[in-house]
Amino acid sequence: MTTLTSITIRRPDDWHLHLRDGDVLRGVLPYTARQFARAIVMPNLSPPIVSVEDARAYRQRIVDVLPHDADFTPLMTCYLTDATSPDEVERGAAEGVFTAAKLYPANATTGSAHGVTDIAHIRPVLERMERIGLPLLIHGEVTDDHVDIFDREAVFIERTLAPLLRDLPGLKVVFEHITTAEAVDFVEASASNVAATITPQHLHINRNAMLVGGMRPHFFCLPVAKREKHRLALRKAATSGSAKYFLGTDSAPHAREAKESACGCAGIFNAPFALESYATVFEEEGALDRLEAFASENGPRFYGLPLNEGTVSLLRQETQVPQVLDLCGTPIVPFHSGERLGWRLAN
Ligand code: NCD
Ligand code: ZN
Repeated sequence: MTTLTSITIRRPDDWHLHLRDGDVLRGVLPYTARQFARAIVMPNLSPPIVSVEDARAYRQRIVDVLPHDADFTPLMTCYLTDATSPDEVERGAAEGVFTAAKLYPANATTGSAHGVTDIAHIRPVLERMERIGLPLLIHGEVTDDHVDIFDREAVFIERTLAPLLRDLPGLKVVFEHITTAEAVDFVEASASNVAATITPQHLHINRNAMLVGGMRPHFFCLPVAKREKHRLALRKAATSGSAKYFLGTDSAPHAREAKESACGCAGIFNAPFALESYATVFEEEGALDRLEAFASENGPRFYGLPLNEGTVSLLRQETQVPQVLDLCGTPIVPFHSGERLGWRLAN
């Protein structure tokens, strides 16, 4: 068997990304723009992006700090709250500002304090989204104190997601950053209006990475990494060739000191070497020929957007991932910090 020395794929997109704002935005954006043509930009700023005007202004702040040679389009999302109006969501979609709306159960994760306290409160919004075909992006975890953090995704499927799709069977749903075999089973059993994104970290690590040999805060994100059997289910799903799974890094930068703390923030900063990281997984699974569908085709097809023109190439060369990156003055530890990856994105 010959070993490939490079692979070339259609330019990919990142369907779940935290770009933040201000100096950190300026620092993180070039990493994403180097690899991806478009990204779904998460709205969990402080305060969150809850209106068409908020999203328009945030989009402009992103475009203003794009490197001059970059060809990158941010796709904006609306942060749903108990008070979101269906008309605002529809207007944002009609004006080409909102590509999707994001459901954070209140207090499920970083920046979700203004999220939805009960899905019944946004029922009219969801009905409108079903009617106009606007995708609902879901952080799928219950926040009930009685539910163990490792079970929160599976319980969310039972309590919230399955009933939601029974009531609104035509709603387009992206089950974001899935972490369990239960989520894979749910997506498999659903119709084609239900898809899922999968992050690099959930393909690479299980919960041991976070907890064995000391507490390792840079492997902490939400939903938290689960047992090995779940990681294996995710790897199988991502590399299966199914059109229901696509690339969404959930790259979520936090300052080093905010992670290495007595109460460390959830979020892994994987944007700098995301493609190299995914390519490593697809190669290990013998599925490099399926990377393009996952990274560049399934997402736009689900969203009803055109496929990107142009290509990117990954070379079989080592990438040495730095221990720490300086993002316009903020030190942030990237995913794969200090490791060597076997692929390198060509310039
Ligand atoms: C994200 C963040 O930091 O904004 N953190 C994370 O662990 N993934 C929020 C989120 O997507 O849950
Ligand atoms: Zn996220």
